[in-house]
Amino acid sequence: MSTTPTSEHQQLAAALTEGLALIAASGSSEDLRGVMSSLTGKKGPIAALKSSLGKVADIEARKELGQLVNEALVTLQQASEAHSRTLRAGEFAAQIASERLDISEVAMSAQATRRRGRMHLVTQATERLEDVFIGLGFQIAEGPEVETDFYNFEALNMPPSHPARSMWDTLFIESDVEGSVVLRTHTSPVQIRVMQDWPPPIYAVMPGRVFRKETPDATHMPVFHQIEGLVIDRGITFADLAGTIESFTKAFFGEGFTSRLRPSYFPFTEPSAEFDIRRPDGSWIELGGCGMVHPHVLRAGGLDPDEWSGFAFGFGIDRMAKERHGVDDIRDMYSDDIRFTEQFS
Ligand code: PHE
Repeated sequence: MSTTPTSEHQQLAAALTEGLALIAASGSSEDLRGVMSSLTGKKGPIAALKSSLGKVADIEARKELGQLVNEALVTLQQASEAHSRTLRAGEFAAQIASERLDISEVAMSAQATRRRGRMHLVTQATERLEDVFIGLGFQIAEGPEVETDFYNFEALNMPPSHPARSMWDTLFIESDVEGSVVLRTHTSPVQIRVMQDWPPPIYAVMPGRVFRKETPDATHMPVFHQIEGLVIDRGITFADLAGTIESFTKAFFGEGFTSRLRPSYFPFTEPSAEFDIRRPDGSWIELGGCGMVHPHVLRAGGLDPDEWSGFAFGFGIDRMAKERHGVDDIRDMYSDDIRFTEQFS
């Protein structure tokens, strides 16, 4: 049914045109919300038209006008939503741009103020340890962090289900044969790799990252560092082991320091010991484990125990760095907080 335009129709058309223009002119999401609430709110032009509907005498004309009013509302709503999406995209892009950090600018300003990065405390300790051992005639070797059960346990005289395996809380890697691939729990597997790869005599140290299923606290991290030592030669005795530990102690810590060995147990050394370092003030630092390489381990490394003998040792590097710099909480060393690092520059 067609009707001739009434003044209500004209008012509605005008309100719609003006409303659409106001929406299009809104420059921000906030403006748009304001425009919409004044257009569609109780005091807005649409509400005024709705309340004047009652005055339209003809029922059909009233129905038609009512419908047109609703359609106008929907049109305004849709226009608002479309414009809002555009506005929000622009606003998001602007936010990203304002929060953007230009790394090259940071680097340039660091250069301008002569602020330089530092080597991590553990890296510094590792390099010093390597220097000292190179000075004692050792070579440096490295092995993989993801190891097979064979190198991490079996070749180290721990056959499957050997109870000593529980000395290391192991993190496993998913693999076809369950439990056959691990994150190495110590650097001792590198002993085997070096024996297999290098013809004896061997004088080697092997630093690297190791992994254990530990909850981090002030003195433990699930990822930490060890340095392993291996000497294989003819006629090596326990006295050579003790002498090497003592020379290392003096070279690394200083003349006022001494070492001691305490009987202990490791499946891959026999006899085994734990070694401690005595500070000039008489206090002791527990450092690591050591012992004479077990004949089974020599064989796993492809060496004949009747011809070759040797010793091995291993200790934690993080603990040494922590001791040396008086760090209370080992987690601070891994916080990447520049305020921590700067204390050691
Ligand atoms: N691998 C041992 C550990 O992590 C330390 C060790 C190394 C002991 C070499 C003896 C010989 O506890």
